[in-house]
Amino acid sequence: MSYPYQIRSLEEYQQAWRESVTDPEGFWANVADHFYWRKKWDKVLEWNFREPDVKWFQGAKLNITENCLDRHLGTLGNQPAIIWEPNDPEEHHRVITYRDLYNKVCQFANVLKNNGVKKGDRVCIYMGMIPELAIAVLACARIGAIHSVVFGGFSAQSIADRILDAQCNVVITCDGAFRGAKDIPLKAVIDDALMACPSVKRVIVCTRTRTPVSMLKGRDVWWEDEIKKVETMGNPACPAEEMDAEDMLFILYTSGSTGKPKGVVHTCGGYMVYANYTFVNTFQYQPREVYFCTADIGWITGHSYIVYGPLSAGATTLMFEGVPTYPDAGRFWDIVDKYRVNILYTAPTAIRSLMSFGLGPVNHKSLTSITKLGSVGEPINEEAWHWFKDHIGKGKAPIVDTWWQTETGGIMITPIAGVTPEKPGYATLPLPGIQPILVDENGKEIEGNGVSGNLCIKFPWPGMLRTTYGDHERCRKTYFSTYDNLYFTGDGCLRDEDGMYRITGRVDDVLNVSGHRIGTAEVENAINMHHGVVESAVVGYPHDIKGQGIYAFVISEKMVHDPELTRKDILQTVSRIIGPIAKPDKIQFVSGLPKTRSGKIMRRILRKIAEGEADKLGDTSTLLDPGVVDEIKEGRL
Ligand code: WTA
Repeated sequence: MSYPYQIRSLEEYQQAWRESVTDPEGFWANVADHFYWRKKWDKVLEWNFREPDVKWFQGAKLNITENCLDRHLGTLGNQPAIIWEPNDPEEHHRVITYRDLYNKVCQFANVLKNNGVKKGDRVCIYMGMIPELAIAVLACARIGAIHSVVFGGFSAQSIADRILDAQCNVVITCDGAFRGAKDIPLKAVIDDALMACPSVKRVIVCTRTRTPVSMLKGRDVWWEDEIKKVETMGNPACPAEEMDAEDMLFILYTSGSTGKPKGVVHTCGGYMVYANYTFVNTFQYQPREVYFCTADIGWITGHSYIVYGPLSAGATTLMFEGVPTYPDAGRFWDIVDKYRVNILYTAPTAIRSLMSFGLGPVNHKSLTSITKLGSVGEPINEEAWHWFKDHIGKGKAPIVDTWWQTETGGIMITPIAGVTPEKPGYATLPLPGIQPILVDENGKEIEGNGVSGNLCIKFPWPGMLRTTYGDHERCRKTYFSTYDNLYFTGDGCLRDEDGMYRITGRVDDVLNVSGHRIGTAEVENAINMHHGVVESAVVGYPHDIKGQGIYAFVISEKMVHDPELTRKDILQTVSRIIGPIAKPDKIQFVSGLPKTRSGKIMRRILRKIAEGEADKLGDTSTLLDPGVVDEIKEGRL
């Protein structure tokens, strides 16, 4: 494959960015021309941010899997599409060529059809990082079913919420998943979730761990048995469903500052073009390079940069089942050497965690294959940036610090590897097509350089969310109502003297814990469900490895006799309600929370206390009872 739209120099970048602003429709039409469409678009873009209503490539017909699979068969059929490294390094790895992947996707797409799945149906996928997860995702796309992948770290309750919200009637899962030394019983979690979801009529279970599972007659079937059935049916092909560019491709749930997670909706045409364009450009992907993104497909990074971006570009994408520290903290580097990985895309939290083991696990690794490095998910501190650069990139490989969100579908602000300048801690410059602006609280644009404000985007891009599933008003309110005619990211941002962007973190009540987005309100709701809890307030605090830790202030009904046990009980409750990823790092029992006279919790004060900056509380005169602050300060953990 060649990528005529790949930017190769700073001048080309500047020119492309200018073009994308002066003639966005022409710019994106030129990119989109290099994909396979059953029918081209009637109109490139129609939009307003008020409703919002955004349509890219209207009237165009396509199937994203024809772009990820069919179109590569002639030239790349025997090239590895997916290399899979199992959790246990002693187990055999798998190499799946484009032809194999095509066959497997068609086969499983036929399984879905046999099980009554039709275009437009929502399918929940809850699996570990095995190739069958990517196959399941693509098989849904093949027949026009809308996938909703739920990360393996979420609880039964969270899965049920997502299944109900999207009204899924089919679930695809595994018996279990291997993650490091753990063995996670996925099917058992699904069984619990489905007690609340009578609409689910079919569960397809893929074998992985051979954990004993209960298989409900009439509802649960084995992946392998279903494959055998379609094998005996003869024709293995599965024609791709013709999709409208604006038909839904997938739903992915993500946390916001209020209420339950919302289902971010991405559509077929624009998302495909954007995931591919940003992959090919940001990483400067060259044919035959081995690309390793360490994310999980349960998150947007996995959707866009393990599955759709790389496969639509005919790349070789490496999928890793395990965790960076198993069997030891050299695992990533072993994988890099084993497959001669060229591009490594990971998260600051992983880098910081591996840094903490010192250079021992890095020292005897070659790492000479690496030519480009990437970071995503949270701000990368300079120390981690330099460690990554010096010890993994051997001082030579460029690092792309990519800023983006579930809602943006793809990378927005980032260096282009080796092409545009990099600067530690900075996501640097917007990709072509992206028009960031900084605004103050009143929505007034902050112009010039050497300034900071709230980060907004003022013009649509093809990969942006179209709605939140089942609740368009929520989408409007969350992203398009804070500032008139702008998409509001929820992030604070600084633009330095050279016009480079540095993301400073969320300005709303969303935490970023180990790169996972968690709403404080969600955690509070979970804590409040625990017996005896009267009220709670959750804030973030700086955490050496996780970036942010979760600090919970909890009022309990009675005096807590055994605070240690009660803490554990609360953790258990949060695990049950949301999942282990949302467990607070610290729980402090308090007798009151700082509130204003109107009853609002002053989180600003709690944040300062959690951060250990109780001497910088600022104005506390509006508090109803300033006394509680002293008590909380004294009891800080
Ligand atoms: C944060 C992950 C600083 C940011 C792709 C954003 C970052 C949220 C970066 C989205 C980065 C992501 N530098 N902060 N390079 N990348 N973030 O939806 O706060 O899981 O709003 O998408 O992560 O998280 P999400």
